[in-house]
Amino acid sequence: MNKSYKIGVIKGDGIGPEIIDEAIKVLDAVSVALNFNLKYQEMLLGGSAIDETGVPLPEETIQGVKKCDSVLFGAIGGPKWDTLERHLRPESGLLGLRKEMGTFANLRPATVYDELINASTLKASVIKGVDIMVVRELTGGIYFGQPRELLAESAYNTMVYTKEEVQRIAKVAFDIAMQREKRICSVDKANVLEVSQFWREIVEEMAVEYPEVELTHMYVDNAAMQLIRDPKQFDVILTGNIFGDILSDAASMLSGSIGLLPSASTGKGVGLFEPIHGSAPDIAGQGIANPLATISSASMMLRYALGEDAAANKIDEAIKKALQDGYRTGDIGDFDAKEIVSCSQMGDIIADYASR
Ligand code: IPM
Ligand code: MN
Repeated sequence: MNKSYKIGVIKGDGIGPEIIDEAIKVLDAVSVALNFNLKYQEMLLGGSAIDETGVPLPEETIQGVKKCDSVLFGAIGGPKWDTLERHLRPESGLLGLRKEMGTFANLRPATVYDELINASTLKASVIKGVDIMVVRELTGGIYFGQPRELLAESAYNTMVYTKEEVQRIAKVAFDIAMQREKRICSVDKANVLEVSQFWREIVEEMAVEYPEVELTHMYVDNAAMQLIRDPKQFDVILTGNIFGDILSDAASMLSGSIGLLPSASTGKGVGLFEPIHGSAPDIAGQGIANPLATISSASMMLRYALGEDAAANKIDEAIKKALQDGYRTGDIGDFDAKEIVSCSQMGDIIADYASR
């Protein structure tokens, strides 16, 4: 009998539904081509969940994801919900879901497609061949630290990391480095923050167990600069939640568009796969969003969560071929395009190439 997987699908808000539809189109195409079954179960999160249930993370979603083999997620948020109290905002739903799922390791690969070498604002010589894996800690740090409060005359958040939290994310980074060029740059602000000094010490301890991996440390301000100056110096970047959030956005522009980069959030059990970009409410519903980041996230899901590497390879190759053939969504439309296509046309093209 064919293998069968249950995929939780969270479309979310803004362009979320459009890009997820294209990823599902592509998943269906490769699963038919390679003889496995995918069953989808839709769940609510973020603004659409607020509209339907009153909360950004319904209990049904918390329970639902636990019964899936993996979860594919689009994007959440939008101006409609921006004035809500913090704990009722769409973003709180996503943070709560990450915490509930225990997805502490967020892998954000930043690679540059040769076909889009001119799409970056940086010189081709600086970015050609860039291949970075940002390993971002996702369920700790200042996003979750207590105490936190908004008062009339002041406000505060707390950046906390426990030894266990740093150890487990460092282990993920070292294991990934072993599969790559065996170089880790751990990014922190140890010249100012105790929490970063602590982070550095734990990472150093972990390095003893991986003698083949070359470990360096960099302050986050310098890392932001080095990412733009000479991104090829990086192999694996290991960093905390907020620094990873910022640096991965910066790294995405090496590739030419934030609409290209996928991510995988893994940890204790079921993984969450999502593009690194947001819900782009300004272009929602126009059919012009770039679905490639979400389609790549679906490929990461097949590879890392389901072990369907052949299907993942088919998708990755289909994306390259579509770009080689000159198909571009509007965000990258100015660069060596043969044809500007819509979100759903791009999905059709990738699904077609991936099923051959
Ligand atoms: C991301 C996003 C989220 C984050 C927001 C939407 C909460 O920016 O996934 O990078 O900051 O983690
Ligand atoms: Mn972000």
